[in-house]
Amino acid sequence: MATQMFEGRGHAAVYQKYRFAPGRELQRTILAYLQEKVGRIRPGCRAKHGFFLPCWECYLSVEVGCGSGQGTRFLAEHFPKVVGTDISEAQIQEARDAPSMPNISYLVCPAEELPFGDASVDLLTSFTAAHWFDLEKFMREAQRVVKPRGCVAISTYTVDMSLRYGNCSETLTRVFRESWDLLLKYSHARIKLVLEDYKEIFEALPFPDKKRVTDIFDSIPMTVAGVVGYLESVSPYQAFMKNDPEAAKSLLQETEKRMLETMGVSSRETPVEFWVRHVCVLGCKGQ
Ligand SMILES: C[S@@+](CC[C@H](N)C(=O)[O-])C[C@H]1O[C@@H](n2cnc3c(N)ncnc32)[C@H](O)[C@@H]1O
Repeated sequence: MATQMFEGRGHAAVYQKYRFAPGRELQRTILAYLQEKVGRIRPGCRAKHGFFLPCWECYLSVEVGCGSGQGTRFLAEHFPKVVGTDISEAQIQEARDAPSMPNISYLVCPAEELPFGDASVDLLTSFTAAHWFDLEKFMREAQRVVKPRGCVAISTYTVDMSLRYGNCSETLTRVFRESWDLLLKYSHARIKLVLEDYKEIFEALPFPDKKRVTDIFDSIPMTVAGVVGYLESVSPYQAFMKNDPEAAKSLLQETEKRMLETMGVSSRETPVEFWVRHVCVLGCKGQ
């Protein structure tokens, strides 16, 4: 069954503010895979111009579970036509309200019923969202909408996160991890898929040619406020808020206080390096 989270307007606004775009290494991993599988995109396509490979003009990328559009904007820098889709109207509204690009459009729709024709999508992606989908139905849709020789890239960041700042990186990471570990007690059962590095998602992908990369490390430039805001944006924090709002707010305040003390600074705008490990399931559909 699909799991509906991130629906509320408040959550979507926190999301837009604090969630980060796919990091450079993740971007590089996806683009290198496409280069390997699709090669140079030819200046013509079968549908329109009689060639097999898609032409630049026709190349369609779709992001599923796009949230407030961080990943969609990355795709739009590389592909001519990108559609971001999400089940949440509030998330799509945030994405539409953000500074955008002319080659992006957004649609509200479930991952399990994509409003695209059979064999019409060249690249289907999902960033940190697929663990919420009904996998069987989503994979059936992937099989249906992706063109022959089209690709998928389904990634997530994992809970392996660390912070770097001067000579206190170890203590700072411990402070962050302690808060994360508290929040993880409120995590939904679907987070198991993330904890298992998307093994189930990899196994469910019905493409003959596929691989799972589990060691993609990215440094995301952040501030102390950004790190605390990121914690506020995660689904276990939202569950904690519903259960015990005072304790949830005080966890964030305490995390920020401890981070500032550890770093020996007073400003929550102090920059800090936030390191994340991504996993990415990549696949190419057969002929
Ligand atoms: C953790 S957020 C990730 C958002 C964005 N891709 C990012 O990288 O920040 C998960 C997103 O998946 C969406 N979502 C959850 N279940 C969905 C479903 N069944 N179909 C489509 N979108 C879904 C949520 O509304 C939310 O915006």
